[in-house]
Amino acid sequence: MGYPTPAKFHTPRVSLFVILSIATIVPNSVFATNECAFPAIFNFGDSNSDTGGLAASLYAPTPPYGETYFHRVTGRFTDGRLIIDFIANSFGLPYLSAYLDSLGTNFSHGANFATASATIRLPPSVIPVGGYSPFYLDIMYTQFKQLIPRTQYIIHKGGVFASLMPKEEYFHRALYTFDIGQNDLGAGIFGNLTVQQVNASVPDIVNAFTKNVKDIYDLGARSFWIHNTGPIGCLSYVLANFLSAERDAYGCAKPYNEVAKYFNQKLREAVVQLRKDLPLAAITYVDIYSVKYSLFSHPEKYGFELPLVACCGYGGEYNYSSSVLCGGTIEVNGTETFVGSCERPSVRVNWDGIHYTEAASKFIFDQISTGAFSDPPLPLNMACHKDYTENY
Ligand SMILES: *[C@@H]1O[C@H](CO)[C@@H](O)[C@H](O)[C@H]1NC(C)=O
Ligand SMILES: *[C@@H]1O[C@H](CO)[C@@H](O)[C@H](O)[C@H]1NC(C)=O
Ligand SMILES: *[C@@H]1O[C@H](CO)[C@@H](O)[C@H](O)[C@H]1NC(C)=O
Ligand SMILES: *[C@@H]1O[C@H](CO)[C@@H](O)[C@H](O)[C@H]1NC(C)=O
Ligand SMILES: *[C@@H]1O[C@H](CO)[C@@H](O)[C@H](O)[C@H]1NC(C)=O
Repeated sequence: MGYPTPAKFHTPRVSLFVILSIATIVPNSVFATNECAFPAIFNFGDSNSDTGGLAASLYAPTPPYGETYFHRVTGRFTDGRLIIDFIANSFGLPYLSAYLDSLGTNFSHGANFATASATIRLPPSVIPVGGYSPFYLDIMYTQFKQLIPRTQYIIHKGGVFASLMPKEEYFHRALYTFDIGQNDLGAGIFGNLTVQQVNASVPDIVNAFTKNVKDIYDLGARSFWIHNTGPIGCLSYVLANFLSAERDAYGCAKPYNEVAKYFNQKLREAVVQLRKDLPLAAITYVDIYSVKYSLFSHPEKYGFELPLVACCGYGGEYNYSSSVLCGGTIEVNGTETFVGSCERPSVRVNWDGIHYTEAASKFIFDQISTGAFSDPPLPLNMACHKDYTENY
């Protein structure tokens, strides 16, 4: 039987009672005593965590995007929910509104600055002329910086919009989440740079990331949850475009994964330095790469199949072609054919060649929220603490 569609969501909270009991038994408690009751989440990222930013501003996905959980197009570039949705849900918080969405948005418990195709560095070209979001990380920071005084002014003024704004104290207590970098590597890979050239650009990309984390800290952020980048060389859009790139034992394009690993190594070093530079911050580095890679190396073990093949795409070994994407139409032998969903997205890893399915995101969330892939090894609901020994 395949991986079950996540119909019901279980909050992975350890009860306070259990923690306190352990704390009384173990004298030098290795557990921090308090779960973090994050009242808000502010997210910075690309399509891996975009809940509607690009859709509201520039380009909206069309059916079958959104078919799995919401049963409508939500602006997410997947069939259902994203990791960030499961994160918000685990704290009892609503799904994050995109900062760029001017319709019906509610920022009382956070805001999402992510847009699909966003980069850390200034992108080489932007939509509609090129392929990238104009809202790269420096712009997301600028938006966040404005959000603080503007929302506080609206609260102060009162009226219908006041209740839709985050309380001032939330900025300090919120969880700040990051999932960005994949498109900086993609920009190099698809910009005809050699693997060595893309690799050589990694330190500069990571420096630009670090600068923004510091700037966000300077505005009062204290709890950071930073995802590293996934195995880009396992995604159909890379595989189908680089058919002759060397493959590893599981069919992933090895050189591109090497670059992703180098990015992650540099990111991890940067996080170590950030902890020294930002003494009041709790910064958790999350190894998303390993969790995602396990879906490609041992899909059956986790109830998945055909991880290298897009569920919603067209053509070739990877069911992916950059000339017709998921939701598009193509003429095949004189007949207009819709590029729709595969039969069972709930057992698939890759949704549209670039993005993960909801089932994969749920699996990834379940793995990372335990802390098993975190440095320090704290679960998500402890991410306001610097480590287990910290006494709050
Ligand atoms: C905004 O979101 C909060 C939290 O989900 C909710 O309690 C509140 O009713 C929402 N406001 C409106 C006007 O929908
Ligand atoms: C990469 O090279 C191909 C083939 O020479 C060319 O068609 C394409 O426009 C180039 N892409 C970029 C971003 O320079
Ligand atoms: C990337 O650069 C680092 C540092 O120079 C090097 O150790 C690594 O082997 C390089 N990886 C690739 C794929 O070129
Ligand atoms: C289109 O026609 C070719 C040649 O007759 C055939 O081999 C192929 O299977 C057809 N493709 C589809 C999707 O029907
Ligand atoms: C490939 O995409 C098509 C939609 O164009 C879908 O019907 C089909 O099931 C997909 N193939 C696989 C193996 O998932």
